[in-house]
Amino acid sequence: MLPLHLRNLVATVSAALAATTPTKRARLCNGRAEFCSRLYSNVTYVGAHDSFAFSADPFALARDQEVDIPTQLSLGVRLLQVQAHMNGNVLHFCHTSCNLFDGGSVLSYLKLVKTFLDANPDEVLTLLFTNPEGLSPATVWKPLFDAAGLTNLTYVPPSLPVKQNAWPTLGSMLDSGTRVVVFLDSQADGAHPTPTLLPEFSMIWETPFSVTNASFPCSVDRIHGPLATEEHMYLINHSLNTNIIPIGDGVIIPDPLDAPHTNGVPSILAHANECAPLGGGRAPSFVLLDFVNLGAGFQAADVLNGVSPTGSASASRNATATSGPSSQSGAALQRNLIQSYLTLALILALALGSLV
Ligand SMILES: *[C@@H]1O[C@H](CO)[C@@H](O)[C@H](O)[C@H]1NC(C)=O
Ligand SMILES: *[C@@H]1O[C@H](CO)[C@@H](O)[C@H](O)[C@H]1NC(C)=O
Ligand SMILES: *[C@@H]1O[C@H](CO)[C@@H](O)[C@H](O)[C@H]1NC(C)=O
Ligand SMILES: *[C@@H]1O[C@H](CO)[C@@H](O)[C@H](O)[C@H]1NC(C)=O
Ligand SMILES: *[C@@H]1O[C@H](CO)[C@@H](O)[C@H](O)[C@H]1NC(C)=O
Repeated sequence: MLPLHLRNLVATVSAALAATTPTKRARLCNGRAEFCSRLYSNVTYVGAHDSFAFSADPFALARDQEVDIPTQLSLGVRLLQVQAHMNGNVLHFCHTSCNLFDGGSVLSYLKLVKTFLDANPDEVLTLLFTNPEGLSPATVWKPLFDAAGLTNLTYVPPSLPVKQNAWPTLGSMLDSGTRVVVFLDSQADGAHPTPTLLPEFSMIWETPFSVTNASFPCSVDRIHGPLATEEHMYLINHSLNTNIIPIGDGVIIPDPLDAPHTNGVPSILAHANECAPLGGGRAPSFVLLDFVNLGAGFQAADVLNGVSPTGSASASRNATATSGPSSQSGAALQRNLIQSYLTLALILALALGSLV
């Protein structure tokens, strides 16, 4: 008799326990449960090239993107690349020169990034900032990160450089709350370093830029020692330019007309496969794209990450589903217009030249 009562009691108690024990919610890291145990370096992230240079206007000459920063992030972009120049005494994100394209102040950009991070606590984000004027990380850059509230969200490695296989997992970065990784292409290892701004080329190598060859031949373009090539992460600079004035060095601009093809799965996978032998057989950690809202960059990243495209995050990462401001005929018109302007400028320059 007793054993039966005991059994009933045990069953009742365990049922009660099961009901009160909170069931652990499946954890997601960058939208995927399987990423939580992956190293930061062992995930392929889609990056937005010149992320600040967005415009819906097909006549904006120097744009590289069509959609704004919050939209890029909501599509699934997890590396934002930018280029900064001093405009007066305020640091702005500009394309080559602030007269050509002024993307606004670095501080207002960083505040947008902070807003995204606050609203998305399970996301790890990389910032790749180009510092062509060689501005001081400690005295120019860091105060802006402080003002935007980003400094204490930034990952600081215990020592530099970090080998490809020595980065923390996404799960541990989210646990510690340090889930932003910031690289500067220059000066981070210069005279005025700061621990939150990391030197890019000692940990990441890049393929060449200003590519006009749609086959994207792969080579290591920019890298810095002492780590071996395969001990770096790598970035494929997968934006195709078009030469609109094929005379002399030419004039190259990003080409939205080619973006659906360039940002297609076959083109990105082919580029990644070309590079894999240089990258220790691994996929690129970063796929840097123009016009992230066009093509299928996020699906290509899913393939490179070996994850199913039906994951919970993929619906919001379906770039082709967003009805962006893109218009093919607008882009064609833009190209024709620029071509005519530049041809006119060239003729004028030649005419002036022959006068003096
Ligand atoms: C991650 O590791 C797997 C297994 O070694 C590899 O196939 C994949 O290419 C790696 N991805 C990256 C971005 O390192
Ligand atoms: C960063 O600072 C804020 C405000 O002081 C604080 O709430 C937050 O917990 C800090 N985060 C980390 C990762 O230290
Ligand atoms: C990628 O290519 C563009 C031009 O095609 C170049 O401006 C840029 O420096 C390259 N690298 C990065 C990280 O943007
Ligand atoms: C483009 O790249 C491919 C692959 O490396 C190469 O075979 C081809 O010659 C290149 N084309 C031009 C015009 O450079
Ligand atoms: C992406 O959107 C297109 C158009 O709405 C749809 O046909 C396709 O099934 C979607 N793909 C995914 C992976 O959600």
